Amino acid sequence: MKLRSLLLIVPLTIVHLHGVAQQKNTFKPQKALLTTIQKNLADADAQYKVMAGLLKPDQFPKAFHPKDGKMETSNSGWWCSGFYPGTLLELYEQTHDKTLLTEADRILAALAKEQFNTHTHDLGFMMYCSFGNANRLNPNPEYKQILLNSAKSLSTRFNPVTGTIKSWDSKPTDYLVIIDNMMNLELLFWATKVTGDSSYYKIAVTHANNTIKNHYRPDYSSYHVVNYDANTGAVKQKKTAQGYANESAWARGQAWGLYGFTLMYRETKDKKYLDQANNIAKFILNNPNLPADKIPYWDFNAPNIPGALRDASAGSIMASALLELCRYTDKADGQNYFNTAQTIIKSLSSPTYKSAPGTNGGFLLQHSVGHFPAGTEIDVPLTYADYYFVEAMTRYKAFAAK
Ligand code: GLY
Repeated sequence: MKLRSLLLIVPLTIVHLHGVAQQKNTFKPQKALLTTIQKNLADADAQYKVMAGLLKPDQFPKAFHPKDGKMETSNSGWWCSGFYPGTLLELYEQTHDKTLLTEADRILAALAKEQFNTHTHDLGFMMYCSFGNANRLNPNPEYKQILLNSAKSLSTRFNPVTGTIKSWDSKPTDYLVIIDNMMNLELLFWATKVTGDSSYYKIAVTHANNTIKNHYRPDYSSYHVVNYDANTGAVKQKKTAQGYANESAWARGQAWGLYGFTLMYRETKDKKYLDQANNIAKFILNNPNLPADKIPYWDFNAPNIPGALRDASAGSIMASALLELCRYTDKADGQNYFNTAQTIIKSLSSPTYKSAPGTNGGFLLQHSVGHFPAGTEIDVPLTYADYYFVEAMTRYKAFAAK
């Protein structure tokens, strides 16, 4: 079934994905910020039409390089390929602009083959942010089958000896798991809900438990990479790939963990995940290196703070996660999380971060850092910064509907 059939579903609900029914707390959004958000969403709608015009068939946006005006693209196998269709769909839900829906339909067709990709742990990002949103807006058997095949492909990467899903294929003696992998578990919970097969749920819970055990330091900051012995399950090494140093706190990794353990609590109601998410939030929010505008430096321990680059993507992910976590926790912490998310949205809405109309390859936000140590995607717009910013704004709006 084509997404175009969505055109028949009007008006669409503004109640957003995930967790609304489980809310405990509610907080009062600011009228001025709600107005800013409406403008941001309209601007994003226009920007994504600019972006669509820059893409050849089968090209997925990856980054834009403002210095030379070049769009960087990928094929469907890149870990970020789901964010472009996901953002189009979330924007369509807000603006009802059918052009975005038509573009989402086009790019989903190019993405669908990744359902059978067993060489990446990123299928949650790739398929749940895209087809998950498509199926949420317009449930149909075709999307459901694609999502189930994706969950099956992801499950093939689980090793019961390490109790984790393998993130990156590497040397046969390595078994590399990265903190980002927490984000891919949502697809597995969805698969258990739809099929009744608890094996997906069990994989997600086992992976999350071992991540608490092996990825986290006593201060609730996270290592980026843990290398296991696949034969014994022993941890061989804890290190970084995208952060400043093995013992540093790479900002986006902290954000992935915050979001990941918040979703673990949503899906299981196990308080240990709520405690983990709260402790991660405290590490981030109380960190002396978190700037006043709450957009983190690319690494909390980057050597040249305050001259270090900021990572808007980590800010977007944190804002979206905090706007869910604030519903579940006690009222005082919840208010703090809500206020912090509010500050992040305001910061990202300012010209410092938000692109001027028609610029920046159609991306909504500027100034993210992809892989600093590799020298790639440094201080550029990135698809996931936009995706989680749109999600955060949508979640903020939902508080006004209470
Ligand atoms: N590996 C995903 C990220 O860069 O956050």
